[in-house]
Amino acid sequence: MSLIAVSRFSLFLLLMGYLAGCSGAKDTTRSHTLLSDGWKFSRSTDDTASATNFDDSGWEKVSIPHDWAITGPFDKEWDRQVVAIEQNNEKIPTEKTGRTGALPHIGTGWYRKTFTLPDFKPGKQALLVFDGAMSQPVVYLNGKQVGQWAYGYAYFYIDISKDLLPNQTNTLAVKLTNLPFSSRWYPGAGLYRKVSLIVKNPENFEQWGTFITTPKIDANSATVNIKAKTAGQNLTMSTRIEDANGTTVATFQNEQTAKDTFEQNLTVKAPHLWSPETPYLYTAVTELYANGTLKDVQSIKFGIRSVEYSAAKGFVLNGKATKFKGVCLHHDLGPLGAAINKSALRRQLTILKDLGCNAIRSSHNMPSIEQLELADEMGFLFLAESFDEWGKPKVENGYNLFFEQYAEKDVANLVRATRNHPSIVMWSAGNEVPDQYGAEGLVRAKFLQDVFHREDPTRPVTVGMDQVKQTMESGFGALLDIPGLNYRTHLYEDAHKAFPQGFILGSETASTISSRGVYKFPVEPAKDKNYPDHQCSSYDLESCVWSNLPEDDFILQDDKPWVIGEFVWTGFDYLGEPWPYDEHWPSRSSYFGISDLAGLPKDRYYLYRSRWNTQDETLHMLPHWNWEGREGQTTPVFVYTNYDSAELFVNGKSMGIQQKTKDKTPQHRYRLMWMDVKYEPGTVKVVAFDKDGKPVAQKEMKTAGKPHRIVLDPDVKTLKADGQDLSFVTVSVVDKNGIPCPTATNQMHFKVSGQGTYKAACNGDATSLEVFHLPTMKLFSGKLVVLVQSTQAAGDITLEVSADGLQTGSVGLKSVKP
Ligand code: GAL
Repeated sequence: MSLIAVSRFSLFLLLMGYLAGCSGAKDTTRSHTLLSDGWKFSRSTDDTASATNFDDSGWEKVSIPHDWAITGPFDKEWDRQVVAIEQNNEKIPTEKTGRTGALPHIGTGWYRKTFTLPDFKPGKQALLVFDGAMSQPVVYLNGKQVGQWAYGYAYFYIDISKDLLPNQTNTLAVKLTNLPFSSRWYPGAGLYRKVSLIVKNPENFEQWGTFITTPKIDANSATVNIKAKTAGQNLTMSTRIEDANGTTVATFQNEQTAKDTFEQNLTVKAPHLWSPETPYLYTAVTELYANGTLKDVQSIKFGIRSVEYSAAKGFVLNGKATKFKGVCLHHDLGPLGAAINKSALRRQLTILKDLGCNAIRSSHNMPSIEQLELADEMGFLFLAESFDEWGKPKVENGYNLFFEQYAEKDVANLVRATRNHPSIVMWSAGNEVPDQYGAEGLVRAKFLQDVFHREDPTRPVTVGMDQVKQTMESGFGALLDIPGLNYRTHLYEDAHKAFPQGFILGSETASTISSRGVYKFPVEPAKDKNYPDHQCSSYDLESCVWSNLPEDDFILQDDKPWVIGEFVWTGFDYLGEPWPYDEHWPSRSSYFGISDLAGLPKDRYYLYRSRWNTQDETLHMLPHWNWEGREGQTTPVFVYTNYDSAELFVNGKSMGIQQKTKDKTPQHRYRLMWMDVKYEPGTVKVVAFDKDGKPVAQKEMKTAGKPHRIVLDPDVKTLKADGQDLSFVTVSVVDKNGIPCPTATNQMHFKVSGQGTYKAACNGDATSLEVFHLPTMKLFSGKLVVLVQSTQAAGDITLEVSADGLQTGSVGLKSVKP
């Protein structure tokens, strides 16, 4: 754009700003209201609840996001599934308890809310937007059904312009139904993601209709292409791009030429590229004018970055070959259930950053918008997934019921609602779908991939495949943009030869199982091993029949340049799928996590960290050193470290030097292991060496005495006074010398005073039936986490944690006005 054009344009903007100011910006553009407070909720099955005159005075007052099932109680009868899981090669049906979390999510739930919208006048457009509703939502406005959807993870919106009463009370009612046998994990229940109401002029930007891409990037400049769908006539669209400081770096304006689409190309000079290391975001402010009057404004964050996949270089981000150091995440937030909370998500991503993780796969469904916003801001590559099933079922009442009617719409909404997030670098059309078999499956794979391509020509599509031999023969794997292998490390070579793409993605890897702080003897690799306490050993040598240990994946990624990285199953434990105890009660959450359900790191965390986090030192020892009764018995010590060798000392006696080596087992290449150590109480010390054999780091752990004092460690001390923000306070106990007690199981009691509330607690024990929302819980392996939530008033907050016979712990937090 020439200088003259710029100054004319500025004049235009100034004039428009003046006009907008005169008539009141609120009236001239859109309004966006979050429907979060003032809802009523009931498990009622009474369909008259949709009516305006319905008496909901006895219903529970709730705010959205809300998960009606997370408060429990845990009970194995909820969604008790007597099934043979074909995927796991089971032939005979057995009782699977806890498969979906043993929480009361099955059945019907109703939400009701009344509101008036002074902004709304007939002729305006009003949209009710759901980021997800679990599940089969039926939406009523003023007693009339105005819309419905099916899949609980899908984004959708309903145009309620014709049914909204201007300047009167409107009654919104939403019915949700969760069928039994509809999930393989805990799906949550209710309006667990945000619900918003957008009111726009007749001349407007279509919902999710603007697509920003960056087709040309070099060191000096980047082209930002904006395609926007609009409604109305005699329109002008003007855009300004702001950098992260809010400074305008490019502007553009054009008149309507096509009926309902605008296209603009803007040039950003010396662009800051988005990457996990530099998550730089720009904002495009797009304005729509009709006959010179401002009618609509959107503010869309985006990143400038290029994404390529090739046989020669694999995955290339901004010209640099990059490997996915990724984790799969289910959507639940442990003790918060499925109800979205941005600070809980932020904490997860903060933990993953420290781990050195650079990518997330939203298994096996659409991610929350909040998670994508954080991935953009904090720098994570994102593999956004859609389905766990297509037409053929995995579970009787799964997505197979909706596939024919909804799959295209669900994919289109996924892409349209999220495609401006720079973090998303790949789509996934499915996970281990039974449709990997059969000619129909092939048609469905192509159909879905085409829908993704139609909606977004810039990103490739994968499917996580577990039937690898089948997909090599049928052509299923060959037709995908990205062949994703779930486990099956022994088939990577064959798949690489058979598939034409020239590279393989580890779309799901490891599924190693462990319980934080629990160690079993003898120390040996095992598959599907069961113990009487329903825990798994944290020596990280246990996996499932279909899965493997972390090193099997490390070797492939290190030795085969054509493996473009991995997504470990999973970053955090999740509710449901308590393999290998899914036939044993009690057990209601997974053992797969690198961190536990409370977000506390397991030992495995440090194994991945020693490899993924290339900035910080990792030097971690296991097991703990409190083994009363094991004196003199073999108690191997493992060290996870980024250093290649180290020497171990028990009470000052050297146990020798261990060196990472390719010549023994896969574990010897990535862990340092002293297999013959005999336990004696006291001090274990590890001294790590650099490449020249010089000692560079050391760590010690000591045998603890009896629990004496409670210690509190908050992840953040200052909260936003918005009634949502959380501090995650780790609670542990130490002996009278301050040494952590790793096996303590004391019953803790929590009290929050001041401008905060007790929200929940979690100890990461998959077998615990203590509910999260009551202010008491036992420590598990010496620890638990308490979630303290802000109120809407700023002020001081105190958390006090007490237990019989122990010195009470207390921590002061504060909340400030956002
Ligand atoms: C995979 C599946 C995941 C989870 C995992 C457990 O096959 O895709 O959803 O079930 O196994 O190992």
